[in-house]
Amino acid sequence: MNILELIQKRYTAKKYNPHKEIPQEKVEALKEILRLTPSSINIQPWKFTFVQNPEIKEKLAAVSMHNKEKINQAKLLVIFSAADDLDAFQKVVDTELPQARRDWYNQIKASMPEADLKIWLSKQVYIALGVGLTASASMGLDSTAMEGIESDKYMEILDMSAYRPLFAMAVGYGSEDDVNQIHFTPKSRRSIENIIETI
Ligand SMILES: Cc1cc2nc3c(=O)[nH]c(=O)nc-3n(C[C@H](O)[C@H](O)[C@H](O)COP(=O)(O)O)c2cc1C
Repeated sequence: MNILELIQKRYTAKKYNPHKEIPQEKVEALKEILRLTPSSINIQPWKFTFVQNPEIKEKLAAVSMHNKEKINQAKLLVIFSAADDLDAFQKVVDTELPQARRDWYNQIKASMPEADLKIWLSKQVYIALGVGLTASASMGLDSTAMEGIESDKYMEILDMSAYRPLFAMAVGYGSEDDVNQIHFTPKSRRSIENIIETI
């Protein structure tokens, strides 16, 4: 299947098969794929938390609004978090990034208010969501992007402080009776003339 066919076929899973396991090598591949996500100035201001443990997944599901059932059924939950404690992130920048990136980041940091800097860092994390959704589909896995999570409660459950969860992605095998599958619910998008301008 080429990439266009893959994107035409992928859909947001609303119901998962709770019995079908994801081969662990696919989970490991997804970790490496997310690590390779591009970001502005290669800043990589993220943490990806892979939850396969059913008890922890259940606790997170309970604080995930209308997404509870999906998270309980899906075999994997990936939480995408952005650097939130800027002092802690400065240590990451100082120790893990090459000098040129460090200088660039320090310049950007000095040029904008803290709130704007945090927004800019958060935007980078969304790029990883696009990569993760597409990569999951390419591996024959179904997925659900979910902003409907309670960030503060996720931080408590996961004992996080330096990073803040922005959204999560459930991954697994969609249930055969999921009405959101493409053959039941065709893709709904704005028309190409209205969103693409060709000059
Ligand atoms: C950033 C983001 C957040 C989303 N949050 C949720 C969510 O909390 N729960 C859910 O069921 N779907 C969620 N969705 C799925 C969207 O509703 C879905 O992608 C959109 O309607 C297009 O449908 P499709 O993915 O099936 O093509 C989210 C999607 C994105 C990209």
